Amino acid sequence: MLGQTLVRALRRHEVRVADLPEVDITHGPSLDAALEGFRPAAVIHAAAMTQVDVCEGSPEQAFRVNALGSARVACAAHRVGARVIALSTDYVFDGALKRPYHEYDAPAPRTVYGASKWAGEEAVRQHCPDHTIVRIAWLYGEAGPSFLHTMVRLGAQAGPPLKVVDDQIGNPTSTAAVAALLGRLLDEPIPGVVHGSCEGEATWFEFARAVFSRLGVRRELEPCATAEFPRPAPRPANSRLDKRVLRMAGFPPMPDWRDALEAYLRETGDPTPRGA
Ligand SMILES: NC(=O)c1ccc[n+]([C@@H]2O[C@H](COP(=O)([O-])OP(=O)(O)OC[C@H]3O[C@@H](n4cnc5c(N)ncnc54)[C@H](OP(=O)(O)O)[C@@H]3O)[C@@H](O)[C@H]2O)c1
Repeated sequence: MLGQTLVRALRRHEVRVADLPEVDITHGPSLDAALEGFRPAAVIHAAAMTQVDVCEGSPEQAFRVNALGSARVACAAHRVGARVIALSTDYVFDGALKRPYHEYDAPAPRTVYGASKWAGEEAVRQHCPDHTIVRIAWLYGEAGPSFLHTMVRLGAQAGPPLKVVDDQIGNPTSTAAVAALLGRLLDEPIPGVVHGSCEGEATWFEFARAVFSRLGVRRELEPCATAEFPRPAPRPANSRLDKRVLRMAGFPPMPDWRDALEAYLRETGDPTPRGA
């Protein structure tokens, strides 16, 4: 999802796309072949096993891709002298704090996905000193799938009020906003960890309500508690990310999530999801 937006957003850079099946981040030689041919200045590492509930049932596969795969990306980039910009997640935190997490808060993942992404961060730090790790959260973008896509699909169906969780809070974030940040980081590197979600906060219910209101969806929404939707991987109650490092580095603030959502819905025109 992020990769597709990035390719469009980074048009003024010379971009080479690497994807399965040609390039598998768990297979070192395929990575080396891709990088040695192109000799990039930077590698944006957006590949991951992202289905958190599937990760919970397949820990070895999750660590193979998110931890060992990230180590291989970092090693391969380092070998050709490239910087790594690696994407990570709010799931490295347990979500128990009552304020947004900043970059110097200690991670404490509660899920296999979160633990495998945290191990991936550590691997990037260890194997490629020239790196930025960008933690994002609650992402949506044209390619989907995402919560927004699911809501649009369900909203188009007739039925009883849709129950949406109202006790998890985060920063809904568009791939376009993240791509703009990554573009800037290519020009003005920040070493270490950077939080890169949109500004402003909402619960999933509030996010869904904003989408329905903007699209004129008539189906009713009903707030509910996380406990009503037990999932294999527990969701963090608090996914808010404080963009402390971006502020300290003098970067402009990330867009407010409402503005990013408006821009997304305006640009996609037909919000009917492809990947819902
Ligand atoms: N989506 C979110 O809400 C969210 C939130 C926080 C952080 N992030 C992070 O942001 C980054 C981008 O996420 P996204 O939402 O764009 O995820 P996505 O749509 O699932 O994209 C991840 C891509 O990685 C590919 N991939 C999986 N295993 C691979 C391998 N061994 N070698 C090469 N490619 C492989 C996947 O291919 P297949 O589809 O063929 O498996 C998929 O195209 C990830 O690091 C993710 O952890 C996402």
